[in-house]
Amino acid sequence: MKLKSKILIIAGSDSSGGAGIQADIKTVTALGGYAMTAITAVTVQNTKRVVSVIPIKPIEIAKQILFTSKDIKPNGVKIGMLHSSEVIKSVAKSLNSIKTSKIVLDPVMVAKGGARLINQSAIKTLKNKLIKKAYLLTPNIPEAEVLTNTKIKSTKDMIHAANILMQFGARNVLLKGGHGRSKNIEDILLNRKEVKIFKSRRIKTKNTHGTGCTLASAITTFLSCGKPLKKSCELGIKYVNQAIGSNPNYGKGNGPINHLNSIIIKKKFK
Ligand SMILES: Nc1ncnc2c1ncn2[C@@H]1O[C@H](COP(=O)(O)OP(=O)(O)OP(=O)(O)O)[C@@H](O)[C@H]1O
Ligand SMILES: [Mg+2]
Repeated sequence: MKLKSKILIIAGSDSSGGAGIQADIKTVTALGGYAMTAITAVTVQNTKRVVSVIPIKPIEIAKQILFTSKDIKPNGVKIGMLHSSEVIKSVAKSLNSIKTSKIVLDPVMVAKGGARLINQSAIKTLKNKLIKKAYLLTPNIPEAEVLTNTKIKSTKDMIHAANILMQFGARNVLLKGGHGRSKNIEDILLNRKEVKIFKSRRIKTKNTHGTGCTLASAITTFLSCGKPLKKSCELGIKYVNQAIGSNPNYGKGNGPINHLNSIIIKKKFK
């Protein structure tokens, strides 16, 4: 199988393998891309809770980004957990030397179990320095609420929040609806030209660990292969939906999804 594109992932490690860098590498690989990484933090967690977050120094994060991408030029960049203001500044600066415009920023702030992953000053720096560098910003509902200082209870509220996020300089916003309660989930893509609502059926399961990281990585992979934005979002949402639907039910908490759902392995192992 020929590799389709090269993706640089800037994110934290999840020792349980379901989210973060681990989910990103699995997703990019399953969708035919080549994954490179700059690790921002090492988390100790399982499907039930996050025990600790061990930060990597900003200078070391910048070095991973610059040294790696100088040699193998990425066609797309996916950014996940950046836990401090210094790290965000360092990543924002490093991005200046990367030529691709396909930058997807997943503003990870809270883990699925509710643990807060970044502090107040980091949120401010994210708003002021990094969002404007993103081609696509992919907050979930709680993150969009924190970033915009609004409450989101309806589709109208989601569109309102996405519009505020555009004012921070994002070129496109995909506001994810996984945290709502409705039977059908709405993920809303918004830019200056249009509002597109992707509707999918909510799958009844506790196993949704890493859905956000997975979606952002899938979209980055599709974008990096030259697919248009709307199509990349549609395909990414479908991939995540199928990955949730075929989750392996591992762990006692919010278990991981099945990143290999796009590959028919049976044939190879027959
Ligand atoms: N139960 C579910 N059934 C179907 N799709 C889901 C479900 N939960 C989330 N999704 C989809 O997963 C994608 C990620 O959305 P979500 O709101 O869960 O992101 P997130 O909160 O950032 O995830 P994470 O907690 O991993 O960071 C969206 O496309 C959303 O529609
Ligand atoms: Mg998330």
